[in-house]
Amino acid sequence: MDTSSQVGMRVLLVGATGLIGGHCLKALLSDDQIGVVTVFSRRALACSSPKVRVHIVDFDHLSDHAKAIDADAVLCCLGTTHRAAGSPEAFAKVDHIYVAELARLAAARGVPRFLLVSTVGADPRSPVFYSRVKGRAEADVSELPFQAVHILRPSLLLGERQESRPLEDWSQRLAPLWSWFTWGPFRHYRPVAAETVAARMVELAKSAQDGVHFHYFDD
Ligand SMILES: NC(=O)c1ccc[n+]([C@@H]2O[C@H](COP(=O)([O-])OP(=O)(O)OC[C@H]3O[C@@H](n4cnc5c(N)ncnc54)[C@H](OP(=O)(O)O)[C@@H]3O)[C@@H](O)[C@H]2O)c1
Repeated sequence: MDTSSQVGMRVLLVGATGLIGGHCLKALLSDDQIGVVTVFSRRALACSSPKVRVHIVDFDHLSDHAKAIDADAVLCCLGTTHRAAGSPEAFAKVDHIYVAELARLAAARGVPRFLLVSTVGADPRSPVFYSRVKGRAEADVSELPFQAVHILRPSLLLGERQESRPLEDWSQRLAPLWSWFTWGPFRHYRPVAAETVAARMVELAKSAQDGVHFHYFDD
């Protein structure tokens, strides 16, 4: 049953404890068109809004929570790093397997729109492992029978994290210089604020555009 006209849009947000996901959560909570935000997270959230329903989920057993996937749009901001995950396989499990399984369950539950944060350069045939994993996740999501799939491909994300990521910290300091060199065909590689990506995701979740779409810096 479509209850969106009664309670506003229902959104499932995955990755709400992360940089982009945290900004998505804030944007969704302050948006009057959004009625319910279901969050799948492996840990508790510091959020007391009556709009939010948090499900603590073991992502190795996502299908146990399939019934809670009852939404007009899924926003997937999941992701990890090789360092945090501990191995390339563990990284691929989060950035590809969990994403693909989430999308498969959402499609089976009849969710019309799926939004995924991927990365610039994602390509299932890339010789670079990171880009290949992200490309495989994109390919799996794109093949599912959603009305609309929006894949956002940011470059370096700008924003404050609680955890320390030395390489990203340095890259953020060099961001103005980096932006200066990335023009013409390299514009897609410009650093972008995580808050901007999140705002765009929420906008796209509400849009009526059908089909598979890729979104870059200029967008
Ligand atoms: N960082 C960049 O510059 C950059 C650039 C381009 C694209 N991206 C992509 O953008 C997306 C979002 O990035 P971000 O920086 O916002 O991510 P982030 O801050 O690292 O947050 C990632 C989210 O994924 C969850 N997660 C990680 N490992 C998990 C696991 N094993 N099981 C369940 N949940 C897990 C985290 O939960 P916990 O809080 O519980 O860990 C968190 O909610 C990612 O796909 C990333 O690859 C990032």
